[in-house]
Amino acid sequence: MASLTQRLLSLTVILGAVQISGYSFKNCIADPYSNGKSFNCIRRKEKSMSAIINDLPQSVINLTISINPLWDIPNSSFVHLSRLQNLRIDHNHVQIIAEFAFKDLHQLKSLNLSFNNISELSHSVFKDLHNLTFLSLTNNKLKQLPVGIFSSLFNLDTLIVRQNFMKDFSGIAESVSHLSNLKKLDLCFNNLTSLSHSNVSLPKSLTVLYVCKNNLLKLGCNYSFLRYIETLDLSYNYRLNTMAFQGVDLGKINYLRLRSTSVKVVEFLNISNIKASHVDFSGTGLRNDSLLMVLCRSLKKKLRWIQNLNLNNNKIKNLTNYTLYYCPNITGAVNVSNNELKTTNCLNFLHNQTNIKSFSAEHNHITSLKSCKTQNMVYFQNLEELSYRYNRILYVDSYAFYHTPNIKTLKLNINTIAFLSRKAFNGLERLQTLRLDNNLLTDLFNETFEDNVNLQILNLRNNRISVIFNGTFHTLGRLTTLDLGGNKITHFQPSGLDGLKSLSKFYLDGNNLKQIDTSFYHVFQDTLTVLDLQSNKISFLNENISSPFINLTKLHDLKLDGQQPYGLTVLPHTLFRGLHSLKSLYLTNNNIFHIAPEVFDDLIGLRFLSLDNCCVGVANLQPGIFKNLRNLTKLTAENMGIQNFSKEVFGNLTQLHTLQLNRNVMQSIHIDALESLPKLRYLDLRNIPLSCTCQNSLLQNWTLQNPNVQIVYLYNLSCQHNANLKFYNFDTKVCYIDLGKYLFISTAVVIFLFTVIPLLYVKLYWNLKYSYYVFRSWFSEQWLKIREEEENCKYDAFISYNSSDEQWVMDQLLPNLEGNGSSFKLCLHHRDFELGRDIVDNIVSAVYSSRKTICVVSRNFLQSEWCSLEIQLASYRLFNEHRDVLLPLFLESISERQLSSYHRMRKVMLKKTYLQWPGSDCTNPKQAQDLFWNQLRRAMRTGSQVRTEESDKSEYCVATESEKNEHFETSDENYYLLP
Ligand SMILES: *[C@@H]1O[C@H](CO)[C@@H](O)[C@H](O)[C@H]1NC(C)=O
Ligand SMILES: *[C@@H]1O[C@H](CO)[C@@H](O)[C@H](O)[C@H]1NC(C)=O
Ligand SMILES: *[C@@H]1O[C@H](CO)[C@@H](O)[C@H](O)[C@H]1NC(C)=O
Repeated sequence: MASLTQRLLSLTVILGAVQISGYSFKNCIADPYSNGKSFNCIRRKEKSMSAIINDLPQSVINLTISINPLWDIPNSSFVHLSRLQNLRIDHNHVQIIAEFAFKDLHQLKSLNLSFNNISELSHSVFKDLHNLTFLSLTNNKLKQLPVGIFSSLFNLDTLIVRQNFMKDFSGIAESVSHLSNLKKLDLCFNNLTSLSHSNVSLPKSLTVLYVCKNNLLKLGCNYSFLRYIETLDLSYNYRLNTMAFQGVDLGKINYLRLRSTSVKVVEFLNISNIKASHVDFSGTGLRNDSLLMVLCRSLKKKLRWIQNLNLNNNKIKNLTNYTLYYCPNITGAVNVSNNELKTTNCLNFLHNQTNIKSFSAEHNHITSLKSCKTQNMVYFQNLEELSYRYNRILYVDSYAFYHTPNIKTLKLNINTIAFLSRKAFNGLERLQTLRLDNNLLTDLFNETFEDNVNLQILNLRNNRISVIFNGTFHTLGRLTTLDLGGNKITHFQPSGLDGLKSLSKFYLDGNNLKQIDTSFYHVFQDTLTVLDLQSNKISFLNENISSPFINLTKLHDLKLDGQQPYGLTVLPHTLFRGLHSLKSLYLTNNNIFHIAPEVFDDLIGLRFLSLDNCCVGVANLQPGIFKNLRNLTKLTAENMGIQNFSKEVFGNLTQLHTLQLNRNVMQSIHIDALESLPKLRYLDLRNIPLSCTCQNSLLQNWTLQNPNVQIVYLYNLSCQHNANLKFYNFDTKVCYIDLGKYLFISTAVVIFLFTVIPLLYVKLYWNLKYSYYVFRSWFSEQWLKIREEEENCKYDAFISYNSSDEQWVMDQLLPNLEGNGSSFKLCLHHRDFELGRDIVDNIVSAVYSSRKTICVVSRNFLQSEWCSLEIQLASYRLFNEHRDVLLPLFLESISERQLSSYHRMRKVMLKKTYLQWPGSDCTNPKQAQDLFWNQLRRAMRTGSQVRTEESDKSEYCVATESEKNEHFETSDENYYLLP
């Protein structure tokens, strides 16, 4: 009853409420934290722009429409989104952009149209975009730009036209020439053959120009055309040669790329006014010592020092002691990556360049790093950064870095190091970051990192380490991040982690740990913030363990997801004791059988909980399981087999903002459970078998009307039983009428009656009964009076008889009633019936126009059809109109058995007194017959009201009640009137 009332009430509220539009969108998802300002419409199957965005609110500032089969952008597509600032329409199939497609986007700052099929643009398409600063047209099919296309983009800062089919530079130059705020122009990957321009100049503001990967043969520009350019990329214009630069002012350039062109750098430096130190020499064919020495000499003529020397991609195989001997003093970085070096020989080729700060030899063919504690060793005191990533280094000798004692960052990752000498890092006291990830290391020893007392980040991910021996990290008191993920660690020796006094982030994911060893986590009790134990082999046999994390008071990120091969299976209810600071907990993919309702009790600070696919089959989340998670803002509970989304389980999550329930099995959701989450803004219900029945009618309404909660792709959610029907519009009218109203009203009425009737019965029974009788008698009196007055009888009696009794009627009855001093007017059918009238009508009118109907009952009479109708009619008047019109007159005595088939007649007999004709066998026939006539006359004179009293029964003619009964029962025996 209560719930029904509630239903009815909420129904009224819903119907009565003003139409607030809901907060779910057909093809877009609002960024749950952007407050309706940021939307993504990605991977939808819509071809039409309006279908994608027409339901978005006016407040949108950032909009991304990506990876859709969208092929055109019609006029005025965004007029309802005039506050847009950042618009991405990338990776669609856009071919056509209507002339006024971007109408009214006065606030737009950034427009990304990359990766579409645009081959043409109207000259006024960007007309309204006065505030645009960023425009990307990357990867389209543009061959040219119409004149004046950028004419109103005064604020444009960056223009990217990469990866198109542009041929004509002068057109581009003209269309950007007035853009006084343009800083960057990217024209890489087009089909430009020169930078020719007819009398226009680039805006002064333009400092970054990319023209890589075109078909440039010459520059073809006047002396001052590139005067303001600071960064110029001309790489991959294979045919561009040295002479192209003759007579071009490159005075402002501070970075020039010439990779994969036909430019001869030494010649180029001679004819250009460029500052030699600003040229990137990678990919310029400087493949051997002699070419490099020429370059150095040429540089040295111009400069005493240079900052960086970039020699990537030059196919250098070998660097000898004299290679860079004649170069100016290098103060910054030397980069020889992407060459074919097999060794760097302790950097001996840099023996007069000991000021360098950084050296990088990535992507070479180096196979080993040998000891550098040799006689003619050169120290690089200033070197801080050293990288040998992406080589084929198999072993690293002791003292391999003896010559670079001050390095802070050492990158040896992505090699094949299997042999790492115990003294390889000897002396590297300043080392802060050491990358050893993605190698083949199996063992670490307690000398390995002994000297690296300042190490802060140690990355050993993806090696083959299986045991951490005692004391491995004992001197690393400053280490904050230790990444041991992706190894084969099965256990730590008892003091394996000793010394890690500052450790904050500890990654152990993807190892073979079978248990969480309580003994060593006490080491970093006040420092550890992140602990990643994902994808190990941890499982628990029993529910009751003492918490291994109890002392990790600062831990805020714990990952336990995906334990191999079968998952955690048992989740001890004490596992998370003491983790008061925990903010994120990951438990996905764990085949947990049972989650105890108190397991999360200590996690009062938890913000994010991931339980996706955590459990075996149907997860029975127990009431109160989340009771202390009052700070939880995001819960992912996908594919958990949740059958029942109830308030008792989820109702405590008062700060919950985002809830992902995809792929669960509930068929209905009670909205009171959802309404108990006041901060909910984002709800993902995809792939849930929601039934489109009255059970969910309130949910449907809630999802459509709720102004705060976004239901992800609400309008795509299908009905369980029919995927073609949509949840948002299944018919719910029938639910409200049937259940809500009728059930309620009928229940209310029944209950009312049950309450009131017994009360009235007790209080008023006799009053009512009395009133009823009074009313009834009053009513019938009134009724009869009216009938009496109406009726103006033609005959005193209608005689109903069978023709076989006609003799008696004519000889006896007629003379005694019509003649003989008594002048009754009789109606006889053979005499008084209207000729030509239907016999039934005649009978009816005879009965109704006579005061009495006298039935002359004999055996023949009873068998006659017409006589029976007459009896029927007369007795109808007797029983139904309460008018005593019937006078039965028995000519012969008839037993009850014979009467029994004439139901009405029998009823009359029982009800009424009747007269019996005294036959010839009577003792005194004459006297009896006289009495008979007297009685008949008297009966005919009486009124027609029924007399129920038996008092005026004739003593002659009427049998007493008992005799009558007896007579009927004893059948055939003759019956005489008493004298
Ligand atoms: C919109 O996008 C810009 C740039 O990507 C970003 O800086 C800004 O925070 C976004 N605004 C909102 C409300 O998401
Ligand atoms: C540019 O945007 C600002 C607000 O961001 C607005 O006040 C101004 O009118 C816009 N400029 C133009 C030319 O529309
Ligand atoms: C680029 O231009 C060359 C000649 O100028 C032409 O042969 C080639 O087909 C063009 N490529 C494209 C993709 O337009």
